[in-house]
Amino acid sequence: MSKFQAPKGVSEYFPERSKHFGFVRETLIASARRSGYELIELPVFEDTELFARGVGESTDVVSKEMYTFEDRGGRSITLRPEGTAGVMRSVIEHNLDRGQLPVKVWYSGQFFRAERPQLGRYRQFYQVGIEAIGLQDPEIDAEVIAVADTAFKQLGLKNYRLEITSLGDAITRESYTKDLRTYIATLDIDEATRERAALNPLRLFDDKREEVRNLMNSAPILMDYLTQESAAHFTRVQECLSSFGIDFVINNRMVRGLDYYTGTAFEFVHMGLGAQSGIGGGGRYDGLMAQLGGADLSGIGFGLGVDRILLACEAEQIALPEESALQLFIVPLGENVKLAAVTLAQTLRVEGLKVDVAYGDRALKGGMKAADKSGARFALVLGENELASGTAELKNMQTGESSSVTLRTLQEDLKKVL
Ligand code: HAM
Repeated sequence: MSKFQAPKGVSEYFPERSKHFGFVRETLIASARRSGYELIELPVFEDTELFARGVGESTDVVSKEMYTFEDRGGRSITLRPEGTAGVMRSVIEHNLDRGQLPVKVWYSGQFFRAERPQLGRYRQFYQVGIEAIGLQDPEIDAEVIAVADTAFKQLGLKNYRLEITSLGDAITRESYTKDLRTYIATLDIDEATRERAALNPLRLFDDKREEVRNLMNSAPILMDYLTQESAAHFTRVQECLSSFGIDFVINNRMVRGLDYYTGTAFEFVHMGLGAQSGIGGGGRYDGLMAQLGGADLSGIGFGLGVDRILLACEAEQIALPEESALQLFIVPLGENVKLAAVTLAQTLRVEGLKVDVAYGDRALKGGMKAADKSGARFALVLGENELASGTAELKNMQTGESSSVTLRTLQEDLKKVL
């Protein structure tokens, strides 16, 4: 065993699998960009209070899973458990909402939750997220959902389902939670659970214990309390999704793990992943910005779990494209040609070609073995004779054929055959 190991529960990607991870992440990001979302790059730690207020005290994320510490100035700092609160903080702080609305941004990076690690559940994990701020229209809800769905389809995923619901507006919530609290008051539950329900009664629907979830089976259902306006909004979202050709099911018992949600909420569930099946989720958060001290603007977004999406691709045995291979591998023979070999490689790299060199003192056999292993399309052996004559053999590593090339015009010759 090596002396140092990565901390428990972190996800790591290194060659060869890192190629696939990179491809998945880029595919998700490309989909966001195609719908007009722009990069927002945010700190991985923020004031603890931002998450306590933004994400909500009743959530597991805030009450049990935050990596919180005091910095050297005695400030309470938390490693970001999610991206939305940070985006809102940045939008408010930098007045991004003063320009044209909606503000459409995407982000990607590491997030931190002190969960019990298992396959697909990590303490440091990766998300690609988007947020669209300042637009009430149901069409934007459908756009956000479609950005995720399009990326999943482009990756080749099939074995997943989109679940949607509506959590209604403030009026819905008020009348619903009143009835829900009355219902919960009749249940035989322990004091800690009752306290949790007092903070947010919806939490009992996604309690980790089955017996608590069972008690909630006959609880009133939020969807029955939607105001006319909320119901019309939700109907329109469904119309849009159908018009886009995106399949969905309505899950009227969905509870998102974060407190800021209002109106449309959704989750993508993969059927081949076992317990950690949520590959992405999101929804509207119409009160969040005002709650964090900004203007009263609405917003909607999602977070997609890149780790789990890669696992989903693997579960479906999708052949993710390899990163483009090296184009040329140069094998220098002897100390005297090394400088010429690395300079040739450098010149070609400046021209945009992907080139590597057999470093170390290798004989021809060892050098060609390295060329083979590198996966390069072509190999070029450079000895003193080749340098003197200015010509060398270019070997096509796939066919085994060789042709004579002039070193001076190598770049053009390569571009012709690549
Ligand atoms: P979330 O549902 O908490 O939402 O997380 C989104 C996705 O991140 C999950 O569906 C899952 O794929 C992945 N994920 C979460 N926790 C872990 C973990 N411990 N290990 C591996 N993957 C994980 C949010 O974070 C919201 N900020 C999404 C959002 C944006 N809503 C509106 N805008």
